[in-house]
Amino acid sequence: MGATRVIETLVLSLLVFLSGSSATQRQKTRAGPRMPCKQMVFYFHDILYNGENAKNATSAIVGAPAWGNRTILAGQNHFGNVVVFDDPITLDNNLHSIPVGRAQGFYLYDRKDYFTAWLGFSFFFQLYSAQG
Ligand SMILES: *[C@@H]1O[C@H](CO)[C@@H](O)[C@H](O)[C@H]1NC(C)=O
Ligand SMILES: *[C@@H]1O[C@H](CO)[C@@H](O)[C@H](O)[C@H]1NC(C)=O
Repeated sequence: MGATRVIETLVLSLLVFLSGSSATQRQKTRAGPRMPCKQMVFYFHDILYNGENAKNATSAIVGAPAWGNRTILAGQNHFGNVVVFDDPITLDNNLHSIPVGRAQGFYLYDRKDYFTAWLGFSFFFQLYSAQG
């Protein structure tokens, strides 16, 4: 199913504009010019449970309309499905890269007439120093 595959391989690239305070604090530990980091690119990887991949799935359908089920996203643009996720975040688009954090939350499909998703989530990052 095309749309399901889109979600399974969904790699979201986000630009996050950080507030000056935390970026400035991090810059103080580095040598060189004190340029604040205002932009960050990362990816989170969503592997939807498909009935056979419970071990590797990072998301699961927890709500489905009466005409669907919780194994396969429903027809009509997945209208009525609710999915909860706990996805690894990496710094490149390789699922197998070392995660730097997790994206946790849910998405739901609230349009029958065209494909769209509504997301609510939080990120947490495991901060590390490049200097070891
Ligand atoms: C889970 O992921 C591992 C490592 O990528 C892979 O070898 C294995 O086949 C996957 N298992 C399933 C059920 O997808
Ligand atoms: C879920 O729905 C799909 C599509 O209608 C169907 O192929 C599949 O057998 C259903 N699975 C279960 C467990 O009911």
